[in-house]
Amino acid sequence: MTIAEMHEVSKIFIDSRNGKGLVAIRDMSLTIKEGEFLCLIGPSGCGKSTSLNLLAGFETPSRGKVLFRGEPVKGPSPQRGVVFQEPSLFPWMSVLQNVMFSIQSKDKGERKRIALENLRIVSLDGFAHYRPNELSGGMKQRVAIARTLAMNPEMLLMDEPFSNLDEQTRRKMDEEVLKIWKREERTVVFVTHNIEEALMLGTRIVLMSASPGKKEREWVIDLPWPRDPTSDYLMDKKVEMARKMSACHCANSSNDLLEVTD
Ligand SMILES: Nc1ncnc2c1ncn2[C@@H]1O[C@H](COP(=O)(O)OP(=O)(O)OP(=O)(O)O)[C@@H](O)[C@H]1O
Ligand SMILES: [Mg+2]
Repeated sequence: MTIAEMHEVSKIFIDSRNGKGLVAIRDMSLTIKEGEFLCLIGPSGCGKSTSLNLLAGFETPSRGKVLFRGEPVKGPSPQRGVVFQEPSLFPWMSVLQNVMFSIQSKDKGERKRIALENLRIVSLDGFAHYRPNELSGGMKQRVAIARTLAMNPEMLLMDEPFSNLDEQTRRKMDEEVLKIWKREERTVVFVTHNIEEALMLGTRIVLMSASPGKKEREWVIDLPWPRDPTSDYLMDKKVEMARKMSACHCANSSNDLLEVTD
């Protein structure tokens, strides 16, 4: 069943300094199925974050439609939880308070219970009273994930959530996200520019072409987890995707700038 959809979406950002428009994505269509782990890959600047922001409701499309459960996305909603590259926690609040902050219930006891439950999911319930500056980068990102999960979103939108972490921590975090996805049965849209990460995680991988972005190709990865990145199948896929990604990078490496008059 479809949970979210981008239908022939274009997004043009207008530069107020010169009135020119930058086409970030053009005629992008994407159907997201309930329960899938969709990875969005593509060269830098091709519109991955823009697509995620449109699905989150932080941006509105210039043309086309963005739908969630068949209804137009009109703004952010707790149904669509976002995890950014930077965890952006409140430094003066404890880990527990940071997570409690995102929960809408008026009952403080209830908020605390939900926050602790979600901290347990990311194995940080023992750190509830720590401040963000006392945590490692990976732990901070886990708090950010707990904070988003505590809103009980149906769809998790993750924008390169682990790209600032070292390789080993990133792999551990990927495993954590997979566990959460399997246990909680949510839909995940995961942006990464790391082909191997996408291959280790995704049930489907969508490649966006270079700017202005649109869907270029997709691969369904019908393999169980944990996956072996050195298997012949995944090595072949990695080479194929890398070729495809560099080809679309060279074919169109500069953004379209439009004269916009109103
Ligand atoms: N708020 C904005 N205002 C103006 N231009 C923007 C804005 N957000 C994105 N853009 C432009 O849209 C294009 C796509 O940006 P986007 O951030 O979606 O790319 P990306 O694929 O996420 O790149 P990266 O892999 O580097 O994160 C870029 O040319 C960028 O400059
Ligand atoms: Mg981005």
